[in-house]
Amino acid sequence: MEKKRIVSSSTVDHQENVLEKSLRPKRLSQYIGQESVKEQLAIYIEAAQIREEALDHVLLFGPPGLGKTTMAFVIANELGVNLRQTSGAAIEKPGDLVAVLNELEAGDVLFIDEIHRLPRVAEELLYSAMEDFYVDIMVGQGESAHPVHFPLPPFTLIGATTRSGMLSEPLRARFGIINHMEYYTDEELKEVVKRSAEIFDVEIEESGAFEIARRSRGTPRIANRLLKRVRDFAQIKSDGVIRQKQADEALTMLQVDCMGLDYVDQKLLKTLIKMYQGGPVGIGTLAVNISEDTETVEDMYEPYLIQVGFIKRTTRGRKATAAAYQHFGYEFKEE
Ligand code: ADE
Repeated sequence: MEKKRIVSSSTVDHQENVLEKSLRPKRLSQYIGQESVKEQLAIYIEAAQIREEALDHVLLFGPPGLGKTTMAFVIANELGVNLRQTSGAAIEKPGDLVAVLNELEAGDVLFIDEIHRLPRVAEELLYSAMEDFYVDIMVGQGESAHPVHFPLPPFTLIGATTRSGMLSEPLRARFGIINHMEYYTDEELKEVVKRSAEIFDVEIEESGAFEIARRSRGTPRIANRLLKRVRDFAQIKSDGVIRQKQADEALTMLQVDCMGLDYVDQKLLKTLIKMYQGGPVGIGTLAVNISEDTETVEDMYEPYLIQVGFIKRTTRGRKATAAAYQHFGYEFKEE
C-alpha cells in the first residue's frame, strides 16, 4: 500500500507561493488587458532585440494591483534577461542603490517599485546611471573621502509608481517609454478569473467568473483574491463549482456590494455624504474619519471611486456625486 505523504507546513507555504507566482503571466501573449501598453512594448522590445541594445527605460503609472510588477517581469522574460527587483522605500542611502546596480549584467532589467519614494540622493545617482550608465560615488570619510567613477553595463530601468504627480521632473524626463496602466474592463477581468481558476484547478461557469469580475473594482489582484474566497465558499457550501449564485453569496458575505465596493469604499462614501453633506471636504479629513492614512485613500480607494463617477475632485476638496447618493438610496439635493 502506498504511504500517505506527510506535507510539512513549510512545503504547504512553498506550494502556495508557487501557485501565487504561477498566476502571473510570463509572456506578453498571456497577459490579459492593457492592450495599448502591450502593443507599444512589443514593438520596442523587438526593435531593441534586433539592434542588440538594452530596451529604453520604462515608467509604469497606475493604481495598485493592475499588474505593473507582472508587466516588468514579462518585459524581462520577453527580452530574455535577468530582472533585479527593489523598491523606492527599501533604498535608504545611495550605497543601497549602488549595491543593486553593481549586480546588473548587460541588458538586464532593474525594477524599482514605488520609485517616487526614492530618497533624493539616491534619485540623483540614477540620473547618470540612466543616461550614461555610470555613477560617481564618494568613498571614504573625512580627509580621505574621494569620488570614484563607477561604470555600469547598459541596462533597462523599469520604474513603477501609483502617482504621476509625485515623480520629480528630472527623473521622469529620463524615461523613454512612459505608460499608464488602466483599470480592466469586466470582460478582461473575467478572462483573468477564468485563467486563474484553471491554474487553481477549480470549476467555474461563465456567469460565476463574470460575477467575480464585475465586483473586483477593475483590478486583477482583487479578482484573484475574491476568486480564492469564492472557491472556499463553493467548496464548503455547495459542490465546489463556482456559479453566479455562489459568487454572489460569497461576495455579499464579504461585504463586497453589487458595484464591487468594499467595506472601506462604502464607509468613505457614507462619511462624505452623511457627515459632510456630500462635501467638499479635504482628503486628509476624510481619511482620518475612516481610520486610513491619506496616502492609502489617495492611491487605493479614491481613484476607483472617481473612475466610476461616485467622487469628484474640486479645488475645495472631494464631493460625492448624485450617482453616489443614488447608489446608497439617499436623496440628492442640488446646491
Ligand atoms: N493575472 C493577474 N493579472 C493578469 C493579467 N493581466 N493577465 C493574465 N493573468 C493575470
